[in-house]
Amino acid sequence: MRLGATVPNFRAETTQGPIQFYDWVGDSWCVLFSHPADFTPVCTTELGRMAVHNHEFKKRGVKVIAHSCDKLGDHKSWVNDIKSYCRDIPGDFPYPIIGDEKRELAVLLDMIDEDSKHDPETALTVRSLYVIGPDKKLKLSMLYPASTGRNVDEILRVIDSLQLTTRLKVIATPANWTPGTKVMILPEVKDEDLPKLFPKGVEKVKMPSGITYVRTTTDY
Ligand code: BEZ
Repeated sequence: MRLGATVPNFRAETTQGPIQFYDWVGDSWCVLFSHPADFTPVCTTELGRMAVHNHEFKKRGVKVIAHSCDKLGDHKSWVNDIKSYCRDIPGDFPYPIIGDEKRELAVLLDMIDEDSKHDPETALTVRSLYVIGPDKKLKLSMLYPASTGRNVDEILRVIDSLQLTTRLKVIATPANWTPGTKVMILPEVKDEDLPKLFPKGVEKVKMPSGITYVRTTTDY
């Protein structure tokens, strides 16, 4: 799936009952993420960390949903393991897990590993993570191999960047940005418009090339 593409609507069975994806997402943002298999160690930590930090996603108006090619019954039993291993998950397990035994959704959403995609018996989903906007368009895609678990702080950081730059279309966030630190003003913004857009000030950085393309602000 390419950034900007409309994520297809689908029906799925989940640990919290059947869903029609668009109805379930409603006007929220969504994080939909896959992982290779239930009852595996790294996946246990990933689903656990996503559950521990679920309130951070909620705060940002983001609904979380996991996907795996195992059976719904396995998901339900594995959730107990995840809760036991990650002791700081408050209350019930907070988000649904899709059961996709036939791998139909995995294929539709392009989450199958290239090496095994031709073998339906062994085809594993990779660690795909999609951030989907309220308009159902793909805003961000992360693909990690089975060997590397994802970082929830980074997922929240990119959501903060996506939501900020959706609200304020004349900026972009630099490398290692975190909320509150300086952002970059887009090159197409004219110098004469800066005081109105950023009344608290803009820093224009002098570069050896003499081109003033780095203009930063914390006024957002
Ligand atoms: C894991 O979650 O630990 C895992 C799953 C599949 C392959 C490698 C690691």
